[in-house]
Amino acid sequence: MNDIQNRADVEILVNEFYKKVIPDTIIGNFFTKVVSFSRDIHIPVMISFLETILFGTASYSGNPMKKHVELNNLLPLEPLHFERWLGLWKETIYENFEEPKATEAINRAQSIAQIMQIKIKVQGLYFVKLISSLGSTIEPLQIIH
Ligand code: HEM
Repeated sequence: MNDIQNRADVEILVNEFYKKVIPDTIIGNFFTKVVSFSRDIHIPVMISFLETILFGTASYSGNPMKKHVELNNLLPLEPLHFERWLGLWKETIYENFEEPKATEAINRAQSIAQIMQIKIKVQGLYFVKLISSLGSTIEPLQIIH
């Protein structure tokens, strides 16, 4: 086994990870039912994202937070889903790679997952605020009618 050293290693990691994710009974449906997921598009995006995180190559330019907030609007992303995602991530890494990048890849994914969950909660709170502020403007109008 090797450490994760370059893009070719990241490619192996991502391909092995999705072999577990797609058929998974807890999170697989986000990829197979919730979005029209294309392996050919998503896998290279994911490889660039990880290459950027682990090696600072800046080959990824996207907004994963926004993507997952949107995904959460289609089907709520619960703590259980994040636990599963991270569990499969950890499993794939330890089956294929050694330290020190292995632990770095796990730690980075864990902190990104935490931020994602916060962003999802915050947008949920904004939604509740928006609905209640709409409620207070709609009610008087209904009384007038
Ligand atoms: C609850 C756990 C998660 C689920 C179910 C999930 C699911 C998905 C799905 C379905 C997509 C494709 C969206 C689309 O093409 O419209 C996606 C994109 C992506 N996910 Fe996740 N995800 C999860 C957690 C994470 C975590 C923890 C990370 C990072 C460590 C991550 C990184 C990404 C990236 C980089 C993309 C591509 C964004 C882009 O297109 O620019 N995901 N995810």
